[in-house]
Amino acid sequence: MSGKRVVITGVPGVGKTTVIDASMKRLVEENIPYKAVNFGTCMFETAKSEGFVEDRDQMRTLDKDIQKKLQKLAAQRIGTMEGNIIIDTHASVKTPAGYLPGLPEWVLTELHPNTIVLVETDEDQILLRRMGDESRKRDAEGSRSIAEHQQMNRAFAAAYAMMTGCTVQIVRNENFLLDHAIDAMVAVLR
Ligand code: AP5
Repeated sequence: MSGKRVVITGVPGVGKTTVIDASMKRLVEENIPYKAVNFGTCMFETAKSEGFVEDRDQMRTLDKDIQKKLQKLAAQRIGTMEGNIIIDTHASVKTPAGYLPGLPEWVLTELHPNTIVLVETDEDQILLRRMGDESRKRDAEGSRSIAEHQQMNRAFAAAYAMMTGCTVQIVRNENFLLDHAIDAMVAVLR
């Protein structure tokens, strides 16, 4: 394996994909090669071909053993990729059975991350962004529950760091301050 592996996480709707896409453009300008891979898309391709789901937002409701199997297959696929890689995923996934770790041991050993980034912002901003995004079937959730999920993600990230020795960075993605988030993200990726 060669290159840098940066795992980027954040609760749904915090804007991690927006920050990743904009950071990728900056990296191209700076001539720093990176490939961005969406972990959920890798899982979804298998889940759909096996007839488990019709859209990606249904994956959170699948039996947790099926979610774990899909996780493992996605991690194995991404684990073989060469070069600098951004992995767009989740520190934890909120399921009806509780918080499912996004990077359990069998995923970490495939990915070997150098850094885990937590994209965060205030829970009220996340709530409004979710309400404004009609392209997705977001879970109905209040601000307090979103705040709890962000706290849990910090705890999961600390556990992943203890297991692998990777660093953990927090990048704030505040309303109307996307440029600040991009600056902070590119600093991690350089
Ligand atoms: P995934 O594809 O990662 O879905 P998601 O979490 O819903 O992420 P999105 O990409 O939709 O949201 P985002 O936070 O990136 O926000 P966006 O940039 O769109 O995962 C799908 C599924 O895969 C998961 O639910 C799970 O089931 C599964 N999965 C993935 N990884 C897994 C793992 N490791 N283990 C198990 N399962 C896994 O932005 C949202 C909105 O905010 C947009 O409208 C945008 O314009 C706006 N916005 C963004 N930034 C700003 C800003 N600074 N100011 C104002 N508006 C902003």
